[in-house]
Amino acid sequence: MTAASRSDLIIFDTTLRDGEQSPGAAMTREDKLRIARQLERLGVDVIEAGFAAASEGDFAAIRAIAETIETATVCSLARANERDVRRAGESIAPAPKKRIHTFIATSPIHMEKKLRMTPDEVVAHAVKAIELARTYTDDVEFSAEDAVRSDLDFLVRVFEAAIEAGATTLNVPDTVGYSTPAQWGERMAALIARTRGAERVVWSTHCHNDLGMAVANSLSAVLAGARQVECTINGLGERAGNAALEEIVMAVRTRRDVFGVDTRIDTTQIVPTSKLVSTITGYPVQPNKAIVGANAFAHESGIHQDGVLKHRETYEIMRAEDVGWSTNKLSLGKLSGRNAFRSRLTELGIDLASEEALNDAFRRFKDLADKKREIFDEDIQALVSEVHEERVDRYKLVSLKVCSETGEVPTAQMVIAVDGVEQSAQAQGAGPVDAAFVCIESILHSGANLQLYSVNNITSGTDAQGEVNVRLERAGRIVTGQGADTDIVVASAKAYLNALDRLQQPAARAHPQHEDV
Ligand code: KIV
Ligand code: ZN
Repeated sequence: MTAASRSDLIIFDTTLRDGEQSPGAAMTREDKLRIARQLERLGVDVIEAGFAAASEGDFAAIRAIAETIETATVCSLARANERDVRRAGESIAPAPKKRIHTFIATSPIHMEKKLRMTPDEVVAHAVKAIELARTYTDDVEFSAEDAVRSDLDFLVRVFEAAIEAGATTLNVPDTVGYSTPAQWGERMAALIARTRGAERVVWSTHCHNDLGMAVANSLSAVLAGARQVECTINGLGERAGNAALEEIVMAVRTRRDVFGVDTRIDTTQIVPTSKLVSTITGYPVQPNKAIVGANAFAHESGIHQDGVLKHRETYEIMRAEDVGWSTNKLSLGKLSGRNAFRSRLTELGIDLASEEALNDAFRRFKDLADKKREIFDEDIQALVSEVHEERVDRYKLVSLKVCSETGEVPTAQMVIAVDGVEQSAQAQGAGPVDAAFVCIESILHSGANLQLYSVNNITSGTDAQGEVNVRLERAGRIVTGQGADTDIVVASAKAYLNALDRLQQPAARAHPQHEDV
């Protein structure tokens, strides 16, 4: 059987690696573990858990994922050099199923300007890295970075050498999001037809979305014989992002007549996974985003609604409940006790290791239940995101009073605790949120620039919690902070303080693609 005739499509999720390369989307070890557990529930085949050589923190996060995940393959990225491959191999060692993904750039511009290597040297590095990777695991993936701008004959040469060296998956990336669907399909078909040994490996595609064609290009590669797609939840990723997992999965499922392949994904977990990734990374999902946008299944026009009520298929090609829009699930109420709270956390796959963290989360739950009658799963996910097991927040909001009246300049009075010591301020602003931020800055003088501010409701209704995302930049470093509360000014102050807290933490980590091998 050739790779092209197999009917299973491997879903390789790189939210925790390529997705994390989005500005301000850096995640903690706890965050990554929560997402990895949810990806396993979603049924992805491979979780690219990170780039082990980036930092000690990245290594530890991959290791923790490798110790936790049972059914999916855990993968670490490595540049084609000895240190990276060894770090990757060590990081995934505890996983029942493990993969090393090594890569090197193959386009003339990358070889000359970034690597300063000849094509022969590039092939030699790739072969050595793959052979070393095979000493750690039988499952080795090789990527030719910037394959889209690489010479086809050279790609064939590199891939043949990679197969000889023991690679089991060959990945063809459109690193810069330059291709078009027809070209990408042609390239995949030509590589499969011309590479000696092509039938012994799985062909994979990895597309970026700079021209908005990542999903279309990936699907075109599938039609041409690719049997692995690399993608991320919500299309998160560098610049304009990667191909969106939810769109790939639902496209091949809904149009099986066209693609003739299927995945192992439990599609009812798509929306919960999308919400979790959005909450943790602070990257909101646009309302009209396919599959996971709030409007994706909403019918505005009266004519459409009438059609849908009479006969669903008139305007719907998928069912909302099949992708997990079973509306917000009522989780707990004001009278729910600690045991009920703990079991709901377990059902949601949230594992707060210490009693202290559990107590903190329960206290937050009780505070929220005092303000809001019904607590949904999304509320619990948001409040757990504010509980940190690994570190103590330096800045805490103690109290906030805002005065906002028609015709008057809004004012805010605030008390925050800085390393446990309370400090207060009063300030005016263009609006109540601005006044709150001016208060914080008058105490902390952070020197950070506000790059993005957004508010989204976590569930529906005017008593819903508002989730605020704040992106700050200082000296080229970008961080995102989140805060949730039924009062959006309080949520905003929490988000701003959370972002400042993240700016305090060390950030030294290597970027896999911006540095030489
Ligand atoms: O976009 C890219 O080329 C990558 C590689 C590391 C696979 O992310
Ligand atoms: Zn990429």
